Amino acid sequence: EKVIKAALLGLGTVGNGVYKVLKNQREEMEKKIGAVVQVEKILVRNLKKAAAKVEDPSILTNDWKAILEDPSIEIVIEVMGGFEPARTYILEALRAGKHVVTANKDLVASNGGELLDCAAEHQCDFLFEAAVAGGIPIIRPLKQCLAGNHIEEVIGIVNGTTNFILTKMTQEGMEFSEALALATELGYAEADPTADIRGYDAGRKMAIMASIAFNSRVTFEDVTTEGITHITAKDIRYAKELGCLIKLLGLARNTETGIEVRVQPMLISESHPLASVNDSFNAVFVRGDAVGDTMFYGRGAGEMPTASAIVGDIFDIVRNIRFGCTGRISCTCYKELPVKKADD
Ligand code: NDP
Ligand code: HSE
Repeated sequence: EKVIKAALLGLGTVGNGVYKVLKNQREEMEKKIGAVVQVEKILVRNLKKAAAKVEDPSILTNDWKAILEDPSIEIVIEVMGGFEPARTYILEALRAGKHVVTANKDLVASNGGELLDCAAEHQCDFLFEAAVAGGIPIIRPLKQCLAGNHIEEVIGIVNGTTNFILTKMTQEGMEFSEALALATELGYAEADPTADIRGYDAGRKMAIMASIAFNSRVTFEDVTTEGITHITAKDIRYAKELGCLIKLLGLARNTETGIEVRVQPMLISESHPLASVNDSFNAVFVRGDAVGDTMFYGRGAGEMPTASAIVGDIFDIVRNIRFGCTGRISCTCYKELPVKKADD
């Protein structure tokens, strides 16, 4: 049995899911790609807190160097979140010839170019399917399956917290603050929900998708964002009278004058396919010149859906290692296109 060793950075919601899925998928992996992935080390801050989550607590460490300097570890899975030290650890891992998988949308939306360049330079794979819309496959479809298209437009409901809040306001007449409290109670909203309700989280995901769909480099700073904090139950009632719903939409367009990416609450007709995306679900609508309209739907967050996307990336890397073709995936040619700030 061929064993590929990996390290997890972080054992929170997502890290725990990855640990479980890798364990459950061991046999499947062996059948599908002739190798298994063994989690050799897990980096956490609090060793005591993490001990109950693993079979063998001796794999836990708070020493990054113990992972970086272990040549037997070929894959690093970054699920700590935040900018630093995540950025430094990923760069160091790539420079050491390790392949990296991350779910870190904040980092990829701001520093994705730097990380991809580093991966390409060191012939490593750098994959981030889970960074946009959790369990929904969207990065790989945009990059590979739809590569034969000129992508004209990407529209997404890519934040589960705000979609849940707007659904409760629409279906149960709740006010914003009441719906936010419920989202927090049910664990959808973060302890600090600012990035969700102000549209920053969706903006980061749209920047990542725009970069891939339009083969350019779009960062979060290029995205115009407006959140949903000012939406009232009355606005939603008026929208209903017009046969419409209010959804927090991310919109990325490749126009003749440049790329335009924005996130804002918008009115959509009750008959639009995105109108039926409710609760904490996500969906991404892509229009290509050859394929026409396509839509991707599913769970955009949570332990197991996010782990599903990460383990898919790990499968790709293991397959590449097995067949000696790593470093291909991160190697992309791109063209800096003008990015225009959307009008308010
Ligand atoms: P959590 O806060 O649940 O877990 C973070 C983990 O990382 C904890 O185990 C924490 O350890 C560890 N950690 C954080 N900083 C450090 C550090 N400096 N050194 C060592 N360990 C550290 O986060 P999530 O699992 O929810 O999210 C992880 C990533 O996945 C983020 O980038 C997030 O944006 C992304 N993501 C999350 C989704 C979700 O549904 N939760 C969906 C899609 C993406 P300790 O507990 O010891 O502090
Ligand atoms: N806070 C995010 C959301 C988590 O609500 O969609 C997944 O990225």
